[in-house]
Amino acid sequence: MDTAVLASGTGSNLRAILEAMDAGTCRARVTAVISDRPGATALRLAEQRGIATEVVQPQSYPDRAAWDVALAEAVQSHAPKLVVLAGFMRIVGAPMLQAFQGRMINVHPSLLPAFRGMDAPAQAVAARTRISGCTVHLVDDGVDTGATLAQAAVTVRPDDDAEALHARIQAMEHRLLPAVVDAIAAGDMTVGAQPGYHADLPQTAPELVWPPVL
Ligand code: GRF
Repeated sequence: MDTAVLASGTGSNLRAILEAMDAGTCRARVTAVISDRPGATALRLAEQRGIATEVVQPQSYPDRAAWDVALAEAVQSHAPKLVVLAGFMRIVGAPMLQAFQGRMINVHPSLLPAFRGMDAPAQAVAARTRISGCTVHLVDDGVDTGATLAQAAVTVRPDDDAEALHARIQAMEHRLLPAVVDAIAAGDMTVGAQPGYHADLPQTAPELVWPPVL
């Protein structure tokens, strides 16, 4: 399944998808990587593999609406069947939703609906919650509100700060996101307009309870 990945930063989730593709455990094909930042490491990862890249920088457009249109056009030019937001740090607008709603997914570092928006690991630490994790969900017109496709849990340790927790959540993201992309590409997970659908995913949560009393 031709897949476009949108990323703003280090692209560790993109790397996880590409490595799973190499290993044969993710049966999708990343055909384009699109970023809002020319310096994004994700773009370099794509270039190294000969994957097409696009940069759609907000600064290059007169207003938000023009950027929204340009972003949708850039993604559509690659005609992906699936769009993955993997650390794309901007809210996508109506043109992207019109083109891709129901086949656009995002990975978020919390167990949604808890801790939506920015700095989710810091929110989890501040709330003194004992379990957090990551969520892969469909993108809708809200912020981290789309139907949940899959989640994996990570314990919050008493001495965790946001950075330490985020690192362990990201390690889990690197397992969950390629598994979801694979399930969608293989037709094992149904996406589309209907509410979230939970397919049988590989066990991704080695630690579920803190303190480990059970
Ligand atoms: C991930 O933690 C993801 O959940 C959040 O942004 C981060 C991106 O990391 N949306 P990377 O760029 O894939 O390394």
